[in-house]
Parts: sequence; structure tokens; C-alpha cells
Amino acid sequence: MAVGVIVSTGGGKKHPGKMTLFVFLTCLVASSGGLIFGYDIGISGGVTSMDSFLSRFFPSVYKQQMADSSTNQYCKFDSQLLTLFTSSLYWAALLSSFLASTVTRMFGRKWSMFAGGITFLLGSAFNGAAMNAVPLYLSEMAPAHLRGTLNIGFQLMITIGIFAANLINYGTASIEGGWGWRVSLGLAAVPALVITIGSLVLPDTPNSLIERGHDEEAQAMLRKIRGTEDIGAEYDDLVAASDEAKSVDHPWSNILQRKYRPQLTMAILIPCFQQLTGINVIMFYAPVLFKTIGFGSEASLASAVITGMVIVFGTFVSIATVDKLGRRKLFLQGGTQMLVSQLVVGTLIALKFGISGVATDVTKNYASIIVLFICFYVAAFAWSWGPLGWLVPSEIFPLEIRSAGQSITVSVNMFFTFLIAQVFLTALCHLKFGLFYFFAGWVAIMTAFIAFFLPETKSVPIEEIILVWKKHWFWSKFISDEDVHVGNPEAVDYRIEDA
Ligand code: BGC
Repeated sequence: MAVGVIVSTGGGKKHPGKMTLFVFLTCLVASSGGLIFGYDIGISGGVTSMDSFLSRFFPSVYKQQMADSSTNQYCKFDSQLLTLFTSSLYWAALLSSFLASTVTRMFGRKWSMFAGGITFLLGSAFNGAAMNAVPLYLSEMAPAHLRGTLNIGFQLMITIGIFAANLINYGTASIEGGWGWRVSLGLAAVPALVITIGSLVLPDTPNSLIERGHDEEAQAMLRKIRGTEDIGAEYDDLVAASDEAKSVDHPWSNILQRKYRPQLTMAILIPCFQQLTGINVIMFYAPVLFKTIGFGSEASLASAVITGMVIVFGTFVSIATVDKLGRRKLFLQGGTQMLVSQLVVGTLIALKFGISGVATDVTKNYASIIVLFICFYVAAFAWSWGPLGWLVPSEIFPLEIRSAGQSITVSVNMFFTFLIAQVFLTALCHLKFGLFYFFAGWVAIMTAFIAFFLPETKSVPIEEIILVWKKHWFWSKFISDEDVHVGNPEAVDYRIEDA
């Protein structure tokens, strides 16, 4: 079945550029914006499973979860207030990301990241600015054939942030006197400082420099990050994209035009699907979930450290393969593995906890098998929907709608992150093991969606991605010939690949 489009830029359109030390270091520093995000994700679940924290702030949940295994385990942690503690962060990020697109357009990506770092020091509210800028920054800086690898640095930092948070929770939980949770929460200032200072030494992207009228600086920057003098063709593409962008007064209403329908669809559906994989159930609530299936406090936090390790490892797999295998193969393989793992986890929980939620002799071995399948699931997410959920949106928007498009992606992501953080514990209480089947159903839908509707974008220069839509079996109807101003469709060699 011919559904995927592979673009080979071998027909003279491959812009020269190599992995220079400069571009590597720049992307590494910019990626550190992901650390704050990851730390936030990882820290709250552990803190909310600590007895000292619960007894102080959520005494009723504390009492409820101390009840023995003869009660309904699914509902041990059911408290809207408790989930609000976790979800409020994403609500705040969602609101701030509405502003962020204007900020990143006017002041450039670099200063937006700086602003993201500074304001996180004051509170997490403006963290959205960093999230709006980092993936775009990375995709604009990277040479096309290495874009996946360099962009996934962001996801790598998110996962390192999560892993660090899991480890720190494991350590602080055992602090005598019960103030460990303060250390866990307070240490969030460290990743904030890293991106604040880091962004001061970062150069701005050529695209963003041209967009703001600094043409010579943009050329110099392009030479530096590509490690060659031969930047003429790429520079021309960037200027054409920027001219097009300047003719657009209102990127927000613009993105609603018919010709941007493919990008708009992806900007909304990709982050929505990413969250509907159910990953944050594990990331936020792994320790709580592990306690629910019968682990003690320490074992629960230790298991969260294991899932944290798996997610970092899985991200490396993605870094190594994304520009070779392409985005689609990772999405399709990852989706299938997640689907199977979720069905197994749901079934294993159903067999032991049934509908009543009363645990019947859950042995250590049994619980460990559940953790093992959770790890298969987490690993698959780590090389598919995790990194690609940020990479793909950041590389598909033409410059004129890029900031607005990214803002939509971040907002949708934050909204669904919020929603899942908020409703998971109640949903577990009501849907029981069926919750895992619910997410499995979504994974099946999104995997089919990718198979039919997402074209391959690997190695295509970012300002020429429109050509990929133009050749797609479905999306081509939305784009007329007059809409294509960059690149030369004739010079680009396309072939339809059998999926
Ligand atoms: C997602 C987060 C998730 C994280 C896990 C990110 O790409 O946006 O919601 O917690 O991956 O690694």
C-alpha cells in the first residue's frame, strides 16, 4: 500500500553542512531547556508518594493509602486535590505558552529561552517559553540530515531531568525528619539556572536572525554552524521563507488557511496523541502506581528509578536511528510495542486485582513482571512518541507560521498533560485495569493515523518541507502550485515508499 512519501534530496538539493563542534555544543546547551521540564515531570510523583509529604498536606489521602490490601487498591490515592498539585504546573505552562509565540517571534528564540529560565526561578509559569523555543531552535540550527539526532537532544534532556528527579526522590525520601520533599522541590532551581545561563552564551538561529532583519549576521552564523563557505542555496531558501513570512501579518489567523491544513492538523493531533499514549501515568505516578500494585514505599521509588533509566536509554536508540530509519518507522514500531505492552499490563492487573481492586496474593515476582512490561512500554515510547512528539511538529511548519504552530503544539501538549495528571487517579479508581486498555485503544488509533497521514520528513531541509506535503496522497489537495515558493520541486527526487 503506497502511503508514505520519502524524499531524497540527492537531486542537487542537499545543502552542504556537517556536524561541527560549534553546532553540537550549541544544540547541547539549548537542549538543556528540557531539563527543567523533565525535572518537573519526574519530581511530583515521588513527592506525592512520600508519607511525610502526604501526612502534612493531604492527611486524608495519607490515611486512605495506609489501609491494608483487603480494601480497593485502585482508589487508594483518589484525590482531586492531590492531582491538582501535579497538574497545576501544566495549567500554568499552558497559559504562558499563548504569549510565548509572540515573544519568540519578536525577540528570537535565544532570548525566549533566557526568559524561560529566569522566570522559572520565580515560578514555573513561564516555563512554556522555553518549550516553545527549544525544539524550533534545534531544528533550525541543525543541518537537515542530522536534524533528528540534534533535535532529540531536547527529549534526552527531558528524560535526564526525569531520571535525576527519580533518583533525588529516592535519596530524599529517606532523610530523617521528613523534610526530604523540600529538597526535591527546591532543587528544581538547578535546571532552571542551567538554561538561564546557557541561553546567554547561545547564538540565535540564522532563520530567526533573518526574520528580524540581521542578514549579514545570519550569513556568518550559517557559515559557522555548517562549517562551510558554501551556504548560498540554503541562505536563499531561508530568505525566501522569511520574505514569505513577512508578507503575513497575522500568523494566528494565517495558520487557519487551507494551505496550512496539514501542519495545523499535526500541530494539534501529534501532541494530543503523545499524551494519550498514557506515558505520564507512568512518569507522574509510577511510585503511586507501584504502591497500588503492592510494593512498599522504597521499592516503589526504586522502580521509578528503573523506569527513569529505561526512558533515557530508549532515547539514545532514537538519537542513533532517527535520521537513518526515519520518523515513520520509529512511530510504527514504537506504537506496536506500546500497544502490546499495555494490553499485557492491563491483563496482568486484571488477573490479580479484578474488578473489586482487592489484591489476592500478589507475589514479588508477579509485581516484577508487571514492572518489566511497563519497561517495554516506556522504552518504546522513548524512541517513538516521546522524541518525535517534539521533533515532527518543530520541522513541519513554514517559517511564517512556525512560532504560532509551535505554540499550538505546546498548548495542546500542556492541556492534555494537565488533563491526564488531573484525572488519572480518579480514572484508575473507576476504570480500574480497563484504564490500560483505554490507552491501548488510543495507541492503536494513533499508529494507524501515522501510517496513513504522516509523510516522512527525514533529511528534507526544513524550509522545503512544503514539498513533502505537496507530494502526499492526501495532503496534496490542500496545496496549490502557487503556494510553493521555496526549493525546486523538479530538482527534488521523490519516490513513494511502500509502508
Ligand atoms: C512528553 C512528556 C513526557 C516525557 C517523558 C515528553 O516528550 O512531552 O509529557 O513526560 O516525554 O519522557
